[in-house]
Amino acid sequence: MQNFPFSQSCENNQAPILEVLTEAFADRDAVLEIASGTGQHACHFAAGMPRLQWQPTEIPDSMSVLMPRCVDYGGDNLLPPLSLDVRDSPWEVPVPDAVFTANSLHIMAMSAVQALFSGLGLYAGDDVVLAVYGPFNYRGEYSSPSNARFDQWLAQQHPESAIRHFERVQELAADAGFALQADFEMPANNRLLLWRKGG
Ligand SMILES: C[S@@+](CC[C@H](N)C(=O)[O-])C[C@H]1O[C@@H](n2cnc3c(N)ncnc32)[C@H](O)[C@@H]1O
Repeated sequence: MQNFPFSQSCENNQAPILEVLTEAFADRDAVLEIASGTGQHACHFAAGMPRLQWQPTEIPDSMSVLMPRCVDYGGDNLLPPLSLDVRDSPWEVPVPDAVFTANSLHIMAMSAVQALFSGLGLYAGDDVVLAVYGPFNYRGEYSSPSNARFDQWLAQQHPESAIRHFERVQELAADAGFALQADFEMPANNRLLLWRKGG
């Protein structure tokens, strides 16, 4: 077993996320993953949905974290990782018919969350399906005491990191032309939000 960069939360959440994505991406051909981190999700989902082409991406400074596991992946449906900072203008990566990102909106600054959605508004075509996994607040409230503690911890790590409010994210998605299709409750007080462009 190689000593790749590892995230325990990816290990824990990949099976329930795969179950939702298998259905949500059933009629999709290719996925752009934004903020792929260690590449655990990319490899697990590419292996679990071999019909799909999976494009992992990361910010330039974190490409070295993403690369090793992806290079080691045995299948042919995982594309070589590309560099993407959602604040790039323009995005240098094509946006196929599906987009996925996990645990990224609460890490990046709110200005980057806005850039992510305006990028999708500009570069995603009609009918693109967007899946976003992570914790969200609803009606101004944390959805659990553990999320409240997590948000405090995030603020200590970086003043611009924070659990995002579902309603604000939904507004950004709507402004980018995406209609909410589903909001799945996931283990450990996380959500999986699904939108479709033009839907
Ligand atoms: C908590 S990690 C999540 C990684 C992986 N998706 C997962 O679920 O484990 C947050 C990721 O967001 C990425 N990120 C932060 N700012 C970004 C930006 N402006 N554009 C793209 N990715 C960004 C970080 O590099 C980091 O890999």
